[in-house]
Amino acid sequence: MRLYSSITALAASLSVANAHCYIWGVFVNGVDQGTFRAIRTPAYNGPSPHGYANSPVKNLTSIDLRCNVLGDKQADYTIQVRPGDNLTFDWHHDERTDTDDVIASSHHGPALVYLSPDPPTEDSFVKIWEEGLYEMSDVLFGPGKWATTSDIAANHGHMNMRVPAGLKPGHYLVRAEMIALHEGDASYLKNSFRGAQFYPNCVQIEVVGDGTVELPKGVSFPGAYDYSDPGVVFDVGLTPGAPLPTTPCATTYQIPGPTVWSGAWPTTSAVDVGPVSGPTTATLWSSWIEKSIVTFATYDGSDGSTLSTLSTSAYTADWSTMYHTPEATPIMSA
Ligand SMILES: *[C@@H]1O[C@H](CO)[C@@H](O)[C@H](O)[C@H]1NC(C)=O
Ligand SMILES: *[C@@H]1O[C@H](CO)[C@@H](O)[C@H](O)[C@H]1NC(C)=O
Repeated sequence: MRLYSSITALAASLSVANAHCYIWGVFVNGVDQGTFRAIRTPAYNGPSPHGYANSPVKNLTSIDLRCNVLGDKQADYTIQVRPGDNLTFDWHHDERTDTDDVIASSHHGPALVYLSPDPPTEDSFVKIWEEGLYEMSDVLFGPGKWATTSDIAANHGHMNMRVPAGLKPGHYLVRAEMIALHEGDASYLKNSFRGAQFYPNCVQIEVVGDGTVELPKGVSFPGAYDYSDPGVVFDVGLTPGAPLPTTPCATTYQIPGPTVWSGAWPTTSAVDVGPVSGPTTATLWSSWIEKSIVTFATYDGSDGSTLSTLSTSAYTADWSTMYHTPEATPIMSA
């Protein structure tokens, strides 16, 4: 009981520091494909050994930067899409509802989407969408409007992407990412208590149809980002209560990674989405991750309520170079 309360306190304190933001669902042309389905969401992929909570990744050379901790674990489903389909990723923090805060209001930063053949290979991630600082603040030292806190959070967690025109059929992994810069004024390399927080999350899709367009050479994760990138170590400006900055807030922001591929749609549009199918809340059953170390707790109740053991170990992803067909049949988008 004593252990349980200290762990609960630890979880509470970590959730203050970290947004635990991840994708809860995918809408295809506005139709929900089901909560957590086809998503390599570390936290809630089901019972052990599939599930761990999603704290930010800060180590740019860690394999966890690819698809988060346990991102090598395949989801049981994949979603079938066609070129031109509009996908809406439904990012949330605590629950999949319109009242959820999506991501902590201090977590200003860019949002990005990459596409790779599944399984990824060296240099296979191609950037297809990005948004950073898109409007300057009209108040002195204000942070301005950012993809994470202004666009996506204000739009109930919706991040839009469109399957590239004519894309060749096959299995792909979408790597969607939110980056929180509230502690990004310091480099994680120099101060592991601070640094930009990366929230990568991968979705399994199968493109069908008769397209012929192949993805060009892209970048690797890890590898694409560096602590010397101006968009990785960046002072986002004021968070409420912080001391006044000694220098004016930056007026431009350079989003990390390569440029967006010319074959991607130049714009994406918000799509009217239908109802959510499946649960809107999830029980935290397992763990918290700090600095890519999996700190896990085992529960003996099926409802995840009774903690029996607590341990810490490093999880090292083991990415296969072979495509494995998911256990369950693909989810048809239409
Ligand atoms: C970052 O990850 C790399 C690769 O796993 C590891 O060698 C290194 O020790 C990590 N650095 C920190 C500060 O945790
Ligand atoms: C995707 O969105 C665009 C822009 O709103 C629209 O023109 C297109 O028809 C949509 N695609 C599908 C498959 O619904």
